[in-house]
Amino acid sequence: MSAVESAPCKLTVCRGCCCGTEKKVPGVDHRAQLARLSAIDDHAARRVPVRTSTCLGICFQANVVVVQPSTAGRAAGGRPVWLGKVTEDELLEAVDDWIFEGGPGLSPLPEVLEDHLTSKDAKKPKKRKKDKKSKKDKKAKAEKKRKKDGKDKGKKKPE
Ligand code: FES
Repeated sequence: MSAVESAPCKLTVCRGCCCGTEKKVPGVDHRAQLARLSAIDDHAARRVPVRTSTCLGICFQANVVVVQPSTAGRAAGGRPVWLGKVTEDELLEAVDDWIFEGGPGLSPLPEVLEDHLTSKDAKKPKKRKKDKKSKKDKKAKAEKKRKKDGKDKGKKKPE
């Protein structure tokens, strides 16, 4: 197998408008995260190429990391795996371990990453609309308050 035929897994790490920013994902050392991901070797001691990308279009999943299969993994049916909300060190360790084991197509996804599976077509969850009943309740409450305030205005304050 030539070098191209036996290419290792690759990582795409989103560093767009939201991923990797303190504003969107506070409390994460984004530089350290990128450095950690850039230091992953596979079982054949091949450094896993990491490329950063501009926005991948699912910002609500920031930080997004895409694990692309190795050549062997792709031949075995592996496809790029999109991971969202990759913020904790534990998840980076799991990505490292997974790639070491072979990555997509060659090794099962570590359990800890299962809740982070996403895709380029992921839809942002819609905000729950307030139901009519609660709106009615609010209106009734406001009306009651208005009436009460109106009554209070007419009353004389005790001296
Ligand atoms: S900035 Fe990463 S998905 Fe938009």
